[in-house]
Amino acid sequence: MSSPGDGDVSRRALLMKLGIVFNGIVAAILAVPLVRYLLSPVSHGRKGAYQSWFALGELEQFPAGQTRLATYVNPVVNLWDGMTGDVACWVRNIDGKKFQVFAVNCAHLGCPVRWFPQSGLFMCPCHGGVYYQDGSRASGPPERGLFEHHYKLENGKLWIKAGEMPTPGMVSGIATGKPPCA
Ligand code: FES
Repeated sequence: MSSPGDGDVSRRALLMKLGIVFNGIVAAILAVPLVRYLLSPVSHGRKGAYQSWFALGELEQFPAGQTRLATYVNPVVNLWDGMTGDVACWVRNIDGKKFQVFAVNCAHLGCPVRWFPQSGLFMCPCHGGVYYQDGSRASGPPERGLFEHHYKLENGKLWIKAGEMPTPGMVSGIATGKPPCA
């Protein structure tokens, strides 16, 4: 014979189980980005995205003796990163055969530098950093020249190692043969 409180107990037990299941589902959903983040170095390394080459465009887009802005999509980003995956760089065609591809970010604190063809200088709007056309430091707070991407010319296109972001450890002055600015 059931007592009047039996229905409450079984209802409470059922709600408790439903609560545990619901919390488990929510916890699993919330854990997905965390697990993906923790495993990203392995998964990205497996895909080789860091080592991938990206075609910046046809060589005609970068006339000899000029410096032009180009963009590419960072191969390491996720689909939902949207426009934040677009990366800009400055392409300098030295003589039609030798190029320099500079990271757009200032070597001081990373503001995007702009190219001024009239003066032949890259200038940073944040703290007045200035660079010569070959990317070497001219004046201001930056302690070194602009970072450079590795590049290659293939099938009439200019390619850069897009996943490998330029850092102080990389060789600078790739085209000019200059040692890294210290
Ligand atoms: S970020 Fe360019 S000079 Fe400071």
